[in-house]
Amino acid sequence: MFHNFNLAMKCVFLILAALGLSVADEGSTYDHFRLPTALRPRRYDVRLLTQLENPDDFRFSGTVKIQIEVLQNTHNITVHSKDLTIDDTEITLSQIGGESTTENCITSTAVNPTHDFYILNTCKELLAGQVYELSLPFSAKLQDQLAGYYRSSYVDTVANETRWISVTQFEPASARLAFPCFDEPGYKASFAITLGYHKKYTGLSNMPVKETRPHESIPDYVWTAFEESLPMSTYLVAYSLNDFSHKPSTLPNGTLFRTWARSNAIDQCDYAAEFGPKVLNYYEELFGIKFPLSKVDQIAVPDFIAGAMENWGLVTFAENALLYSPEYSALEAKQVTANIVAHELAHQWFGNLVTMKWWTDLWLNEGFATYVASLCVEDIHPEWRTLQLVSMSNLLTMFRKDSLESSHPISRPIEMTSQISESFDEISYQKGSSVIRMMHLFLGEEAFRTGLKSYLEKYTYKNAEQDNLWESLTQAAHKIGSLPKDYDIKTIMDSWTLQTGYPVIYVTRDYTSRTAKLSQERYLLNSDVSRAHKGCWWVPLSYTSQEEKDFNNTVPKEWMECTETGESVPKTIEDLPGPDQWVIFNNQLSAPYKVNYDAQNWKLLIETLNSEDYQSIHVVNRAQLIDDVLFFAWTGEQDYEIALQVISYLQRERELLPWKSAFDNLKFVNGILQQSSVFHPQSFKRRLITPIYEHLNGINDTVASEQQQEKTILNAMVADWACLFEVSDCVAQALNYYRSWRSEANPDEVNPVPLGFRDVVYCTAIKHGSVEDWDFLWTRYQKANVATEKHIILDSLGCSQEVWVQQRYLERNFDGMGAIRKQDSTSVFQAIATSEVGFLLAKKYLMDNVDSISKFYHPQSESMSELLPPLCEQIFTRRDYDEFMNFLDSSKEQLKDIEQTISQSLETMLINVQWMERNYERFTRAIKKHV
Ligand SMILES: *[C@@H]1O[C@H](CO)[C@@H](O)[C@H](O)[C@H]1NC(C)=O
Ligand SMILES: *[C@@H]1O[C@H](CO)[C@@H](O)[C@H](O)[C@H]1NC(C)=O
Ligand SMILES: *[C@@H]1O[C@H](CO)[C@@H](O)[C@H](O)[C@H]1NC(C)=O
Ligand SMILES: *[C@@H]1O[C@H](CO)[C@@H](O)[C@H](O)[C@H]1NC(C)=O
Ligand SMILES: *[C@@H]1O[C@H](CO)[C@@H](O)[C@H](O)[C@H]1NC(C)=O
Ligand SMILES: [Zn+2]
Repeated sequence: MFHNFNLAMKCVFLILAALGLSVADEGSTYDHFRLPTALRPRRYDVRLLTQLENPDDFRFSGTVKIQIEVLQNTHNITVHSKDLTIDDTEITLSQIGGESTTENCITSTAVNPTHDFYILNTCKELLAGQVYELSLPFSAKLQDQLAGYYRSSYVDTVANETRWISVTQFEPASARLAFPCFDEPGYKASFAITLGYHKKYTGLSNMPVKETRPHESIPDYVWTAFEESLPMSTYLVAYSLNDFSHKPSTLPNGTLFRTWARSNAIDQCDYAAEFGPKVLNYYEELFGIKFPLSKVDQIAVPDFIAGAMENWGLVTFAENALLYSPEYSALEAKQVTANIVAHELAHQWFGNLVTMKWWTDLWLNEGFATYVASLCVEDIHPEWRTLQLVSMSNLLTMFRKDSLESSHPISRPIEMTSQISESFDEISYQKGSSVIRMMHLFLGEEAFRTGLKSYLEKYTYKNAEQDNLWESLTQAAHKIGSLPKDYDIKTIMDSWTLQTGYPVIYVTRDYTSRTAKLSQERYLLNSDVSRAHKGCWWVPLSYTSQEEKDFNNTVPKEWMECTETGESVPKTIEDLPGPDQWVIFNNQLSAPYKVNYDAQNWKLLIETLNSEDYQSIHVVNRAQLIDDVLFFAWTGEQDYEIALQVISYLQRERELLPWKSAFDNLKFVNGILQQSSVFHPQSFKRRLITPIYEHLNGINDTVASEQQQEKTILNAMVADWACLFEVSDCVAQALNYYRSWRSEANPDEVNPVPLGFRDVVYCTAIKHGSVEDWDFLWTRYQKANVATEKHIILDSLGCSQEVWVQQRYLERNFDGMGAIRKQDSTSVFQAIATSEVGFLLAKKYLMDNVDSISKFYHPQSESMSELLPPLCEQIFTRRDYDEFMNFLDSSKEQLKDIEQTISQSLETMLINVQWMERNYERFTRAIKKHV
């Protein structure tokens, strides 16, 4: 609608121009999506009244006063404002500073809805060097759209009443939905927030409360003023009104740390309250910079679109990300909480103190926070040993996502607001984190820390770009001597951050001269496109041999280099062992690349893997070999026969990482095979999984301990697949557990299903059970008070084999009645779409209802991007590909904000079609030999 309006404006302009008339408002030609650079905000005074008492009339209204410094003479002030009502008769503008305040005025205002601009044309020219204060009144409905300033609710079960709260979510570009502002990260300013509200609420914001006083006219209302903030970007501003309880935790050095949740969930805050302050201390130490605020609040919001948001001093979380109940959640949920808290608190420095100049460098914030969070959790909970698992999991994710031709560089140009939202993806987070890990490993601890600290100190309260970080790190590394003088970080890292994709290194050994020739090319899953001339990467090369087994050494022995024109320089490695010994490149996957070897080397590796000695290959490299060989088999550059010989060793494997690698790959083949009734290689899978399943005692209740975190996770993962393939006693045991739960007198209090297996038990029971089983679980969902439990139930409800049950569930998911929260609707859809009978239903439902679904998510249209992958991953015939492509094509309007996901979905389907056409026969033949 806005779009059409804008087109109409353009037409008028063209007609007038054609007639030779002059257009009065020359400024209306400004159609760039970035703000003009003539002005700079210095300080905001936001005063805002919120009405939360009347459910028929939720709204907020207020005034923002912005101190603006003029950098270049201009006749207009352009700010962001979206869906706000602004009364332009009440706007004032005056010059401040000097001796007196002089009035200026606004002659007219205009909007540019495409870019969310609100343009104020001034009477007199604003002159460079002067400072003005602009005062703008605004108001809007307090919506439930999970962006900007919005409302959320929960049911107080004691009073049997719905309670309303309000909260903000501004990143990346939604501060403009809450008050008019210069909504770009480069415009840092200080914020003085004052909130007006009914006194039964608590008001929270980034900063501590300065004072609270009664409202001048509304009874029982108060004004709470918060201290003025440090200079920060608009996307980090936050406030909330709520009736929550909190858990205080103390820090030795006085930072007040509070964890907030609705009262009946406050006992689930213990872990986050205890863990948070430790994290703050860890980062003060790691970054060498004290946390600059005097308090941190972390708050669990019942309706929240992201996992969490790092607002400075007021970190917001989805309930399932922050709350942990030892009684109702598996240990894994505790790890998730730890990781997310550590991630958000890392941003308090990396992101909040020093911020990216523009969203192009979003990855720097996200990749860094993701990586240092994994270091932090490892430091505080060494008994969990999560660093390896998290690093591996990030690598597995990026290997898949970034092998699409339609992927994008980590550092990408951003030209539309929708592209900012699309940048919060696996490339920014998981690939970003993986390349920073690579850098940490090749630089060494000292250079990494020194460079980081000097970067953060230099850009405190400012904005920076990746080149600024590379410069600080290069200086540190050269000084310490951990990087050759003729190397610089920028050259190395640019090859990873400015280019899409990652390389595969081909290692061809010469067994007589004991050398190996190395070459590289971009790894692509799509075999229709040529890999030639698709880039060159600076690759740190670590390697070891069967004799040496020096997997611990992740410092590069050599580098693969690139010429200035981006050509790979061929590399020869010398002094390798003889023909009876394997070599492995990329110790512990210290850099994100794949490796393919000549046949003889693979043969040697397969021999060791399938022997008692398989553990002589480092566990991370065992996982690497599995992932690599399965990718190569998928694309046809390696035989499935070879791949299956590698995989067969899993019968011996008892550790988590290789299994994770195998299961992650199996998921994709299984997605295809599940939909093709022709051939189910159940017996192969059973043979593979049975030994590990039995070794772990299946899903018999074994008390999970924190010391055996890896085993617990492996056990849950194995159980998932075991019940899916009906291995051993998995299904029978799952049904037993479920039956005994159903026969409990008070199933909401007493649940005999072991915590670690609840998802697999529920799903299996729903899949093999009756509609009464489904309804029983749905009632438990409604009564559950723990968000992680609610999530597990929602996902499990999608496992039904009953068409009408699945259809009913789909409809309930999108009916907007609130039984299922909007934030959970994408995962419900995914659960249905990945089940055997749900796939076709979900596909049809999306195709038939794309219009209403897009309205359902508006304005978070990016949520739609989560609906496509589970469907595309299961489409593998030309016919279905064409059908879905036509659907995507005819739904351009509804899907316009997720272009990236669409091209990735198309490519995913194409890759599946290629797989079927090329491999189905070969795969089946190879597997038959192994059963
Ligand atoms: C506002 O002023 C800036 C800088 O002087 C100018 O580039 C821009 O075109 C103007 N915008 C409008 C909409 O008049
Ligand atoms: C809670 O209130 C609703 C109506 O507001 C009513 O239908 C329901 O029965 C009540 N539940 C309980 C447990 O009192
Ligand atoms: C507290 O602050 C002092 C002085 O700034 C510092 O030496 C000490 O390490 C800090 N303690 C903690 C636990 O952060
Ligand atoms: C490698 O490192 C691990 C963990 O630090 C250590 O337990 C192991 O002994 C090391 N192995 C060798 C061969 O140095
Ligand atoms: C689980 O326990 C039952 C009863 O003790 C036993 O019969 C069964 O073999 C066990 N299953 C596994 C996979 O260990
Ligand atoms: Zn983040």
